[in-house]
Amino acid sequence: MANIVIGVTGGIAAYKAIDLTSKLIQAGHAVRVVLTGNALEFVTPLAFQAISRNHVYTDTFKEEDPSVISHINIGEWADIIVVTPVTANTIGKLANGIYDNMLLNVLAANTKPVIMAPAMNVHMYNQPAVSRNIQTLMGEGYHFIDAESGFLACGYNAKGRMANVPEIKAYIEDLLSTDRSLAGKKVLVTAGPTRESIDPIRYLTNHSSGKMGYAIAEAAASRGAEVVLVSGPVNLTSPGNVERISVESTQDMFEAVKGHLDADIGIFTAAVSDFTPATVHGSKMKKTQDNDELTIELKKTPDILKYAGSHTDGMFVVGFAAETDNVREYAAGKLEKKNADCIVMNDVSNKEIGMNSDDNEVTMLFKDGHEQQFPKMDKQTLGIQIIETLVKRWNA
Ligand code: PMT
Repeated sequence: MANIVIGVTGGIAAYKAIDLTSKLIQAGHAVRVVLTGNALEFVTPLAFQAISRNHVYTDTFKEEDPSVISHINIGEWADIIVVTPVTANTIGKLANGIYDNMLLNVLAANTKPVIMAPAMNVHMYNQPAVSRNIQTLMGEGYHFIDAESGFLACGYNAKGRMANVPEIKAYIEDLLSTDRSLAGKKVLVTAGPTRESIDPIRYLTNHSSGKMGYAIAEAAASRGAEVVLVSGPVNLTSPGNVERISVESTQDMFEAVKGHLDADIGIFTAAVSDFTPATVHGSKMKKTQDNDELTIELKKTPDILKYAGSHTDGMFVVGFAAETDNVREYAAGKLEKKNADCIVMNDVSNKEIGMNSDDNEVTMLFKDGHEQQFPKMDKQTLGIQIIETLVKRWNA
């Protein structure tokens, strides 16, 4: 288990750092917390002290232990530092070498990996200076977990909300992992929905968000794999060290996948459309007075997973099965029909898991009869678990 320092700066998302501290403690890590003066406007040291069972640091000159210099000692103790939330102000100071509070002193004296989870108003986030400062810090090796889009405390519904706690926790644990079990291997992942055009402005699609596939791609990349992520249209930032190929239709996804059938492992999480309009209208379909109904003729799309299952020798082929009833029976059928080595089944009739949710609950069915069940958990953690299971089974 690791020694983790959490730095908290002055933003409304500071309350989420209390939850993160709690989750890390529950996972068995040791946590020390440093609050800036502005963070104290939003949260109290006592809240963090009660959860971390450690002294909370707020002032460089308030030395509680005469045997150490705290802002040096904290960095020496840490395996990793996480600044959550990090404001535009702290990003700007750090990028320009201004170290005028305890947290900035800790960061100045630090040599360990640092993760930043920004949270701010969308216009602040889009400020050229903020982007520039983030780029500078990324160039110096700081890790940034991109802010999400959603409801902001300032009333906007836009980008700037801090990444959620499970995502930050998974990022920390992934960075701490020294597992390079996929170094030298190529992993192909498909993710997200497809869009099948009806006319220039309308299309058929589904509710897949891409979260499951992106989490798997990230977990594979952090274990050293060369990852190719073939993604349908989603609202997600590409994980680091991943080659993303953006596609729209099933046919586009099929063409992209065919270019990477040399991968060692193929993981097909995309929610691919089984049918596409037989003809795509060249101009917008018009409503006519005499027609109360409209029939759109559909034709089958290529089955990408099945193609991969029968056109590769070396690839370990992993499909997903999104089912609403007879989940196990249909999933087992897909394992066989699609010639896959493994099918990951999930019940998408449950709104709390599966499509477009932050969590999932799956069972992995392997060709040799082995099964691995995972309870409900966030998709980042599950992505790591799925990759670890695949590596073990594949090696076996
Ligand atoms: O994206 P999220 O919001 O995070 O949601 C995750 C998920 C629910 C989409 C994911 O966990 C999942 O179940 N993905 C598979 C969705 C799906 O299309 O399942 P299916 O049972 O219809 O297809 C079975 C398998 O065949 C899948 O691996 C699919 O990618 C593949 N397929 C299907 C049709 C087709 N024409 N080509 C394919 O390759």
